[in-house]
Amino acid sequence: MGNKVNTIGVLTSGGDAPGMNAAVRAVVRTALAKGMKVKGIKRGFAGLLDEEIVDMNARSVSDTIARGGTILYTARCLEFKEEEYQKKGAEICRKHGIDGVVVIGGDGSFQGASKLAKFGINTIGIPGTIDLDIACTDYTIGFDTAVNTAMEAIDKVRDTSTSHERCSIIEVMGRRAGYIALWCGIANGAEEILTYEKYDGNEQRLIDSVLEKKKIGKKHHIIINAEGVGHSYEMAERIEAATGVETRATIIGHIQRGGSPTCKDRVYASAMGAYAVDLLAKGESNRVVAYKHGEFVDFDIQEALAMQKELDDGYIYKISQNLSR
Ligand code: ADP
Ligand code: F6P
Repeated sequence: MGNKVNTIGVLTSGGDAPGMNAAVRAVVRTALAKGMKVKGIKRGFAGLLDEEIVDMNARSVSDTIARGGTILYTARCLEFKEEEYQKKGAEICRKHGIDGVVVIGGDGSFQGASKLAKFGINTIGIPGTIDLDIACTDYTIGFDTAVNTAMEAIDKVRDTSTSHERCSIIEVMGRRAGYIALWCGIANGAEEILTYEKYDGNEQRLIDSVLEKKKIGKKHHIIINAEGVGHSYEMAERIEAATGVETRATIIGHIQRGGSPTCKDRVYASAMGAYAVDLLAKGESNRVVAYKHGEFVDFDIQEALAMQKELDDGYIYKISQNLSR
């Protein structure tokens, strides 16, 4: 347990995610409702070190719930991995009267949050990443919007793929995490799902599958490829050469990180923002907010970072094979 908090700082860090603004809004308004003051820290830990700190009131977050991106901006700040800068960050918080900080980001950002806690600032993390790759939680802010954006884009590629009777390799985001690929694989009825975690690199199997599906009358062949596997253009050239089936690659890219958040992202992000302030109000520190088994809970940051989660126990992948017959 840390000390009582009077002034909360809030920052977004790492890759942005739709719904981050809903979380910021909830932090600001919940804190004000509890009689606390709020300061926005711009550009993540980089902005903290540069003292880009502004007072926030209820109007600072007006008209933000439907907006993608983050009104606080975000940054990656390598310096903050060094103790000297972590101590400096904590001192800057004290200088500005900030005694509690809410950090919205991924695992890397939680490391930074934990360091601020170590140097005396009560700190709470909120999971914000489109990748869904935070082990302690079943939900991360932005995944729902991103996966719906990817799904809609893939539907469009599928239309033209069917018309031309082509094979389409569609690359979705997720550097080290195949959740977007796996979910789209089911939602878009893909013939193949390639993820960083599971793909064995056996391209001959993909080639055989394209030929086999053509033989049984399929008019398209959709391969969802996670960014972590990559090389979609080269893969397309090789598959076309080996099968004679025209093959195109599409990389959806950063479209998946933007846009107005879905209802789920707005609601869950709002709940997590409010929950984080409740924790600070109770004097808690070094905790991360999570959604697990249908409820909002919290974990010690270091324990959360040590947790592991499987992309899939094999079930979703297995059913995808039968569903794309
Ligand atoms: P994410 O939060 O999405 O995982 P990053 O891994 O890029 O994104 O981390 C975001 C930021 O968090 C980094 O740029 C850095 O400022 C901070 N950070 C990452 N790892 C650490 C660490 N080990 N110690 C302190 N700060 C860290
Ligand atoms: O972590 C979110 C994410 O969009 C990943 O899916 C992707 O690999 C990475 O960020 C891209 O980051 P950048 O902002 O550097 O393009």
